Amino acid sequence: MASMAVVVALFVAAALAAAGHGDAALVEHTFVVSQVKLNRLCNDTLVTVVNGQFPGPTIELNEGDSVAVHVINKSPHGITIHWHGVKMQLNCWADGAAMITQCPIQPNKNFTYRFDVVGQEGTLWWHAHVGSLRASVHGALIIRPRSGASSYPFDKPDKEIPIVIGEWWEMDLGHLEKNLRNGYMFDLPRAATINGKPGDLYNCSGTVKDNNVVNVEHGKSYLLRIVNAGLESEYYLKIAGHKFTVVAADANYVKPYTTDVIAIAPGETIDALLVADAHPAGRYYMVVKANQPPKPAIQFPLIISRGVVQYSECPGKEEHDTTSSIMVPEMPDRHDSDTSFYFHGNLTSLQPHPLLRPVPANVHEHLFYALDSGNLCPHGESSCINHLGPMINNVSFRLPATTPLLQAHYHGNMSSISTLRELPDRAPRMFNFTKMRKPTSRATSVRRLRYNATVEIVFQSPVLADTYANPMHLHGQDMFVLAQGLGRYDAEKDVATYNLVDPPVRNTVLVPLFGWAVVRFVTKNPGVWFLHCHFENHSSGGMAVAFVVENGPTLDSTLPPPPEDLPSCYNYNSRVAYE
Ligand code: C2O
Repeated sequence: MASMAVVVALFVAAALAAAGHGDAALVEHTFVVSQVKLNRLCNDTLVTVVNGQFPGPTIELNEGDSVAVHVINKSPHGITIHWHGVKMQLNCWADGAAMITQCPIQPNKNFTYRFDVVGQEGTLWWHAHVGSLRASVHGALIIRPRSGASSYPFDKPDKEIPIVIGEWWEMDLGHLEKNLRNGYMFDLPRAATINGKPGDLYNCSGTVKDNNVVNVEHGKSYLLRIVNAGLESEYYLKIAGHKFTVVAADANYVKPYTTDVIAIAPGETIDALLVADAHPAGRYYMVVKANQPPKPAIQFPLIISRGVVQYSECPGKEEHDTTSSIMVPEMPDRHDSDTSFYFHGNLTSLQPHPLLRPVPANVHEHLFYALDSGNLCPHGESSCINHLGPMINNVSFRLPATTPLLQAHYHGNMSSISTLRELPDRAPRMFNFTKMRKPTSRATSVRRLRYNATVEIVFQSPVLADTYANPMHLHGQDMFVLAQGLGRYDAEKDVATYNLVDPPVRNTVLVPLFGWAVVRFVTKNPGVWFLHCHFENHSSGGMAVAFVVENGPTLDSTLPPPPEDLPSCYNYNSRVAYE
């Protein structure tokens, strides 16, 4: 018995030593995707999830590790998993964007995603990237420094806690996707969730016990790893009686920024320290509340969820199950977009830091992308509010029907994709961004970029009327977010406001409501990289473009061949997966 304990102790010590010395490890997971009935809001709902869990399993690793995720598809849907924010250097094949980088894994088939996580630390996430399945197929991906928590550029937290904000959909996600693709985008989730729980604001089974509980000890600090995995809303997050110090966004360190409210759009992640310094006899609500644009945008019911922060010192915390003694945070108004604008504008990167690069100076490609929704009236009316065609520069993106873009590109036969079209670098005419216009076309829009080009994109949201903010997500590389502003972008005066010193570095840039944002990135990663709004209604509808990044001159700037077992499109009927 004693010797057994010694052996175990030695083994643990060896494992710790290995971790401490920063040897890269292989982190392996098996993801069984299946449909299960989960009970929320007093209903059993059939949902597609990984390993029976909502949200799915958290992947934890150290920077520099390799990952292998064995996906076993026992669901009736075609499945892909996208590793949102992972840079996938020379590994575009593992990016998991359906019909961009691969065909979906068909029902009863398996596929193993293999990738390395290099040069990134913080919180990212993974999600299905086919149809609208990511609503329930998602989870956090946590990257710690290779040499351990002592090399965080902030005081080592006592504990780390993932907070995955999601949405609970009772409607069938295939049906949702079909509606979105037809331009009908007014379906709503039944509830927001925190770590899978709608919480006690919903009157069915809405007791304090149903909340997500964050247990804390007075005086200790907690690193909250926050993901917005929701389909349709940006959320404000607050905890009554507490403040946050934001230390990273999209797995890039930022200068510590102290705030009592976090704004997080779909696709974004935030790492924030929470110090448990409130009165330990109290209990405190953590609330996430969706914001929405004011009228004339169509108004939807409030989407909100809450959980509880509870001190271990709190007397009798087990007994009381009433909400009366819990402190409630004062939330921003649901039409408040300023709080989000300032939150995003206040983030700066933690320059200098070994993982952060300087902003590239010479721009080779200037792109101006007008983000808008045109009308797609089914009967040819000149305007109808129920059928919107989201678009960039008047082109509404459509996935290729039979061959994924990356495969076509790799084999040099992009021209075989009949719907292919080069996206113009600017909107066809510099319209006033105020009127609903029909998309000029629906096409598989691509933009070719040479290797090692510095690309600058000005994203312009509409400035008036019925519109939304747009969280634009780029696969495969991060972007320097140089500036944001309200109204119409004006190079004459706005270039002077660019932050070229310490701009935040993100994989998702929130283009503000009625405003614009400017990003820069360098094409160092050959392949086909999707750029799209992370609101599901916008991305399914077509606010997207695929960047086709050419190979560079050397072997280490050339995309290797695909893994041999990449799912084949043979006999694959895309209608099954998407409709
Ligand atoms: Cu998180 Cu293309 O998406």
